[in-house]
Amino acid sequence: MAKTTMSAAKNLVRLLVLVQVSLGLLGGVAALSFDYYGMTCPFAEMMVRSVVYDALMKDPTLAGSLLRLHFHDCFVQGCDASVLIDSADGNTAEKDAQANLTLRGFEVIDRIKELLESQCPGVVSCADVLALAARDAVLLARGPYYGVPLGRRDGTRSVDSDTFTALPPAFFNVTMLMKLFGSHGFTVQDMVALSGGHTLGVAHCANFKGRLAETDTLDAALGSSLGATCTANGDAGVATFDRTSTSFDTVYFRELQMRRGLLSSDQTLFESPETRGIVNMFAMNQAYFFYAFQQGMLKMGQLDLKEGDDGEIRHTCRVINSS
Ligand code: HEM
Ligand SMILES: *[C@@H]1O[C@H](CO)[C@@H](O)[C@H](O)[C@H]1NC(C)=O
Ligand SMILES: *[C@@H]1O[C@H](CO)[C@@H](O)[C@H](O)[C@H]1NC(C)=O
Repeated sequence: MAKTTMSAAKNLVRLLVLVQVSLGLLGGVAALSFDYYGMTCPFAEMMVRSVVYDALMKDPTLAGSLLRLHFHDCFVQGCDASVLIDSADGNTAEKDAQANLTLRGFEVIDRIKELLESQCPGVVSCADVLALAARDAVLLARGPYYGVPLGRRDGTRSVDSDTFTALPPAFFNVTMLMKLFGSHGFTVQDMVALSGGHTLGVAHCANFKGRLAETDTLDAALGSSLGATCTANGDAGVATFDRTSTSFDTVYFRELQMRRGLLSSDQTLFESPETRGIVNMFAMNQAYFFYAFQQGMLKMGQLDLKEGDDGEIRHTCRVINSS
């Protein structure tokens, strides 16, 4: 009798574990929803939009920086706002890693979070703020609008070395890019579309000086102007990815066709047979690029999400809550 009860109990436990595991597996996608803050902070999206709007009115170059913050967040330990954590005694955080490479826009995120905390304290995660701010930055730069499912939780770990292999460096060729993006479940088209994020923003000589040697695939006029920039300013020299660096458009892809890509990882997309057709298609058809970019962002925004107690709703985006 006792023995049957025991094994029945064991079976029940097994079943519960199974159910929990399957829910957990679905959880990465199913945990998010479009009306997540509908009851708890109904104006959250409007508050994010208004702060991003003000920031971009003052400094349109922040659009690219906000988009990049979300990318760096999601590729390192999942979309959990770990990129926002400040270093502390004994811990060098992601944002201070070598790959910190000039991340900007933290003050905008701080302002958004302060507004949200004043209206609905402890409700909206910093990871959701990053996802929404990136979406709004793209929209306000005249890119596509896409819905952002919400309900991400903030992580409690941010370590510089986590960035070393997670983020792609500027010298990656298509093979290496496809391997890294493929490891997150992205298709080749997703990877090219997401690289189109470089329609916004700038890079520093530290990251494009290697490109100056690629004379076969570098427009001569661009090569000499980039060379002059780097000679005059060293690694701190700056250049835009395309001619319209605050507009979300197809110019980035058209410049690749003219061998005017800024990073090796940009130009390789046109030079490689695996991706050239996709570049040509995006260059020609803005609606198609926008559609593929939305699909890519939807996937990127759901990478390795924290579940339940693995995460928290941070009060200040720069510091982990103290328990
Ligand atoms: C495909 C692999 C990628 C590589 C190798 C790469 C590399 C880089 C590098 C080296 C910079 C310049 C950093 C500096 O010198 O200051 C940069 C900037 C930027 N990246 Fe990427 N990136 C990649 C993918 C992405 C993705 C997927 C997005 C977003 C969807 C993105 C958005 C941006 C933006 C907007 C900037 C400009 C930031 C600013 O102006 O402040 N990148 N990226
Ligand atoms: C990271 O960026 C900061 C500026 O925001 C800079 O002072 C620091 O030296 C950078 N760290 C590394 C390792 O490059
Ligand atoms: C990319 O680089 C890797 C490592 O250097 C190399 O094995 C591979 O053949 C390269 N791929 C292309 C398409 O050049």
